[in-house]
Parts: sequence; structure tokens; C-alpha cells
Amino acid sequence: MLDIKRAGHSTLTTPDIEKTIDYFTRIVGLSLAAREKNRAILATKSGPEAIVLEKASVAEAPRLSLQVAPGSDLNEVASRLKKAGVKSERRTDITPGIGEALAFTDPKGTTIEVFSDFNFAPEDNTFTGVMPIKFGHIAYQCPDVKGIVKFYCDVLGFRVSDWRSDFFAFLRCSRDHHTVNFLRNDKTAIHHIAFEVRDWSDIKRACDLLARNNIKLTWGPIRHIIGHNIAIYHKNPDGITIEFFTDLDQMHDEELGYFEPRPWHQDRPQRPKVWGDDTPSNWWGPMSHGSPQHASALAQPAATVHHGLQGAGAPARKPALAEARVKQAQKKSRASRKPRRG
Ligand SMILES: [Fe+2]
Repeated sequence: MLDIKRAGHSTLTTPDIEKTIDYFTRIVGLSLAAREKNRAILATKSGPEAIVLEKASVAEAPRLSLQVAPGSDLNEVASRLKKAGVKSERRTDITPGIGEALAFTDPKGTTIEVFSDFNFAPEDNTFTGVMPIKFGHIAYQCPDVKGIVKFYCDVLGFRVSDWRSDFFAFLRCSRDHHTVNFLRNDKTAIHHIAFEVRDWSDIKRACDLLARNNIKLTWGPIRHIIGHNIAIYHKNPDGITIEFFTDLDQMHDEELGYFEPRPWHQDRPQRPKVWGDDTPSNWWGPMSHGSPQHASALAQPAATVHHGLQGAGAPARKPALAEARVKQAQKKSRASRKPRRG
């Protein structure tokens, strides 16, 4: 088994690379670390590479780089992968920052590039866009969530932080609650990419910046229940959902086994668990418990409730159950609007 420490960068393909570079530099606030004929490498202002853009006819996320401990011998990493039944190949010049990596394909078809050492991008002291502090997590949808979770845990060393029912898994490889997510769907595709920002005031600044650029929020600001992050969502020019978040649950020590309160949790202490599929997506903000949006979300297929994305082929709720839940939520919503006496 490997011991992945963090996610490096996601490679995204894009039909209009100039437009997408403009979005990631001017709106997201990444630094253009390198530009080649059909490729661009973008880093956070603090230095680590975060996104690689490649020109192609469709927008997809074909590759993900993951880091093992600096100084690790990649030959030894390759033999550990082989022992786990995974054939890898050595590749060089992955990006300007990553000289060498081991490449292999995960069960849903994403190429994983495991590297041990990297160089920070050249310094960029300009202040542009949201300027996230890091590439936080990437979520995928695929049919066999249990299978992919087993691969990431047994082969790559990830740990399960939470499940929503049996169709949405949150996995960590560091103290962050999740670095990869897997949502069950018939189609295999990217679900969203998330960048961490420093604090709530940066979320507010991001809302203003997106609005000034006529980019509508698709959801948020909210505080999630699973992971407890404060988050906003919008779509990039290629229609890929981008999240900015802060205040994500942290497990400071694996041996302690619980997440630090954000600022409070439902359970004392909050340990990894399976949340019911009727768990609301967020504590406050659109689609929070009892809101009209939550009521209508309950009438949707279960997989659309979290992150509010379309889940074609997702497990559908029984209509009668969904209807009953909508009525119950509407009743609660009406009750909460009644003026209080005394
Ligand atoms: Fe997310």
C-alpha cells in the first residue's frame, strides 16, 4: 500500500484553452506558471502547481497527480503497486514542477501520476482573482463507488472520512476531511473541483468577484453537514463545477480518530460514519434543513441532493416517500415562519 500525502494537480482538457486560462488566472487567481503550444500549467500564488490545462475537443479530467513522501524511491513505490496488482510506468517531465512520476490507471479510468518531489512555480506577487491557498479536493462520479473506494484505501492508503448512505464517499489522505470524493452515477465523469480559501472573508470576496464578472453562484454560501465546510459553487467556462471552501473538518491525529469541531458538531466527538441519505446537505444557506429548496431537493433522485448537481441514472427515491418528505419539510418550513408568542 502507498501512503499518499496530498493531491498535486488535476489535468483538465478544454476546447478553448485561452478562455480557460483567462478564467483560472483572472477569476480563480492562479498563477500562469508555464505556457506551451497546447498546454498551460497553473499554480497557486504560493507556489504548488494546481491545474494543468490541455487543449482537446471536450472538457474532462483525465489525470490526477498525487504525492508520496519527498525522497521516496519511485522504484520501491512501483514494486509496492505491483504487489497490489497495479502495473505502473515511469514517466518524466510531467510538468515544469514534477520531473518524474509513476503513472497507472485507477479502476474508473483516471490516470494517476504519483510523484515524490516537486519544485514550486516561479514567484508571482500579483494580486488577482480569488487566490485560493490550495487545490483542495476533486470529486468524481462513477458507477462502482465501493470498488473505487476499496482501491483508493487498499492501494493508495486513503482513509474513509464519511459516507452518505452507500452512494457518496469522502476520502482523506491528510488531516483534511476529504481530498477525493466519489459519487455513484451511471456515467463516469468529473463532479467538481474545489479550492481552499483562507477564511470566510475570502468567501465573501469571491462572491463579489464572481458577481462583478457576471458569474452566477450555482449554490451557496452554505455550511455543509458532511465535512462541515463553508462553500460556494459556480461553473467555469467549460461547465465544470468549481467550489471555493473554507473551514473544512480536520482530523489532527489519526490515532485520536475524530474531527475538530467546526465550530460544533452533531456528534461528540464527530467520528467518520455513514450518514443517512435523508441527511440535509447543509446546516445553513440554500437547501438547508426545512428550506423550500431542501423540500424540492428531497423530491429529486438522492444523488442530486448533495452538491446540487444533476445525477442522471442516480438511485431514485420512491415517489410516495419523496412526496411525504416534501410535505413534512413544507410543514416544518411553514411552522418556522409563524411568529413566536411571548
Ligand atoms: Fe466539494
